[in-house]
Amino acid sequence: MSSFCIGLTGGIGSGKSTVAALFAEHGAGIIDTDAIAHRLTQSGGEAIEAIRAAFGNESIADNGALDRTKMRGLIFSDAAAKRRLEHILHPLIREQAKAQLQQLETHPYVILVVPLLPESPAFRQLVQRVLVVDCDENTQVARVIGRSGITEEEVRAIIAWQTPRAERLQLADDIIHNDTGLSSLAGQVAALHERYSNLHKSP
Ligand SMILES: Nc1ncnc2c1ncn2[C@@H]1O[C@H](COP(=O)(O)OP(=O)(O)O)[C@@H](O)[C@H]1O
Ligand SMILES: [Mg+2]
Repeated sequence: MSSFCIGLTGGIGSGKSTVAALFAEHGAGIIDTDAIAHRLTQSGGEAIEAIRAAFGNESIADNGALDRTKMRGLIFSDAAAKRRLEHILHPLIREQAKAQLQQLETHPYVILVVPLLPESPAFRQLVQRVLVVDCDENTQVARVIGRSGITEEEVRAIIAWQTPRAERLQLADDIIHNDTGLSSLAGQVAALHERYSNLHKSP
C-alpha cells in the first residue's frame, strides 16, 4: 500500500464531492467513504446482518436495506446508538477503503473523501495529509437546501452535530475556500494537484 493518500473532509454541503470530481479530472484516484457506507447498508450489504442483530428487524426496511430515515431519527436523539452503528460501519468502511487504495496504486495520488475525518483518529491514520474544504455556514445551508430539498432547520441541526468549523480547520494541512464560484474552485484544485504530484514524486 504505497499510494500517497490525502484525506478530504469538510462539513455537509461544503463541496467535498464537487472538489473530488475536479481532482478526478486531473487523474487522481478517488475513494468516497459515503459511497462505501451506502453500499454496506444496501440490501445484501455486508453490514446489514450486524445492524439487524444490534438494532432489531425494525431497523431494516422491507426491501432489505437499512431504513435510513428511521436510523437517522434514532442516532440523532441517542448518542449510544450512534456509537453502536459507527462501531459496526467504520471498521468495514476502513477495510474497503484500504482495499480500494491498493487498487488505485497506479494513480499519482489518491483523494480519500471522509466527512468524519475530524472525529476519527483511525481514519486519520490512513492518510498522509488532510485537505479541508471550507465555506461559510450560510453557504452550506443554501447549497444543501438546493441539492436535496431538506429544511433549513434540518441542515442547521446536521451542521451543529458535525465537528465545529474552527476545530476542523485546525487539522488542515491544506484548505480549499469554497465561498465563491466554480472557476475559483477549479483554480485551487489545479494548484493543489501540482503540489500533490510533486509531493508524491519526492521520496
Ligand atoms: N463553488 C460552488 N459554486 C456553486 N455551487 C457549488 C459550489 N460548490 C458546490 N456547489 C454545489 O453545492 C452542493 C453541495 O456540494 P457537494 O460537493 O455535494 O458538497 P458535499 O459533498 O461536501 O456535501 C452541490 O449541489 C454542488 O453542486
Ligand atoms: Mg458529498
